[in-house]
Amino acid sequence: MANERRRGAHITGWGRYAPTRVLTNDDLSRMVDTSEEWIRQRTGILERRVASSGETTASMSLRAAQAALDVAELDPRKVELIIVATVTPDHAFPATACLVQDALGARSAGAFDLSAGCSGFVYGLSLAAGLIEVGQYDNAVVIGAETLSRITDWTDRNTCVLFGDGAGALVLQANGTRGGVLASVLRADGSGGDLLKLPAGGSVQPATTETVNQRQHYIHMDGREVFRFASRVLPEATRQVVELVGRKVEDIVLFVPHQANGRIIQSAVRALKIPPDRVFTNLARYGNTSSASVPMALAEAIDEGRVRKGDLIVCVAFGAGLTWAATAIEWSVPLPVPKSPRWRIFWRWMLYRLARIQSWWRRLWRQADAWIQRLGEGEDH
Ligand code: COA
Repeated sequence: MANERRRGAHITGWGRYAPTRVLTNDDLSRMVDTSEEWIRQRTGILERRVASSGETTASMSLRAAQAALDVAELDPRKVELIIVATVTPDHAFPATACLVQDALGARSAGAFDLSAGCSGFVYGLSLAAGLIEVGQYDNAVVIGAETLSRITDWTDRNTCVLFGDGAGALVLQANGTRGGVLASVLRADGSGGDLLKLPAGGSVQPATTETVNQRQHYIHMDGREVFRFASRVLPEATRQVVELVGRKVEDIVLFVPHQANGRIIQSAVRALKIPPDRVFTNLARYGNTSSASVPMALAEAIDEGRVRKGDLIVCVAFGAGLTWAATAIEWSVPLPVPKSPRWRIFWRWMLYRLARIQSWWRRLWRQADAWIQRLGEGEDH
């Protein structure tokens, strides 16, 4: 919602991380009954990244968050809120955001995960911006990260050609000046939940040998219906958010849609009449990375210098739920951002090492404390 703003939530840092392993369409055509041409023509995807066995949503989130904090020159110990938008958390609980909080050494931060399908990052950005605007926090790190390769059925050609792994992060900071996240539109239609889901592993169908054998722990999707839904809501949400901030679609300088399918993006861009040079896509290289797609694309666009102070950016996403969301941002940081001096990079490296030691120490102390208490209780009896 647009509101009378006391202060703005400005994007002061951005970062992204993609695993190094590349899986091309040709690779996929050797795994399932598909072809390089089919995938390219129907989706616009050429390749995607796949996490190595040691990588997880938390580890990729951490890399993206560290990069974003570097740009913002924000000390991790001063971070007040960490949100990780994901549908592939490291565990059902604890939240992946808590793992990131610990690894960052963000000892003053609250942390939680947010599940809103591929719209999760835009939901998270809106939430964090709102909390900053009302004065509850002065800063927040919002991350979108996914290890979709772990829930992709690599025998299902309908889905496995679409998805990839990665992470993107933004740092939001309070500032009395105009700009930053201006307004957002967040929507849901749970009646479409069956169109895109992970059937088992929750309270409806806890994991059993049967659910595993029936491949119920993988993404199930009605691609055609999701396509129809997405083609409708992308232009609709974009128009709504632009209207909320009193601007016109023609004012959009950078349009960052969810990177799901090139045809969905083209259809939205055609409907909105946005010139192609104002649309950012990196779908060809990363595929659909769900919650990570918008922040990875936005961070890349910013790194390429695609925005200037005062420019209107619109990010729009859709996904499982069904959910959809759009946010309007007025860019407020001069680009390019000067590189950190070497000593500062070293200082931050030291802080992350220190965070590891502190985490280890807290675990050890917790055990020792419990042991001492048990010993005391034993003496009392
Ligand atoms: N390789 C070759 N053929 C494939 C294929 C693949 N990887 N996947 C599906 N096909 C086949 C289908 O089996 C179907 O064959 P049939 O006509 O004999 O039944 C044919 O291609 C056409 O299927 P259809 O579903 O109409 O294709 P499409 O043009 O709609 O493209 C998607 C399929 C999945 C790419 C497209 O619907 C899509 O992108 N939907 C949105 C998905 C999405 O964004 N999900 C994430 C939301 S966050």
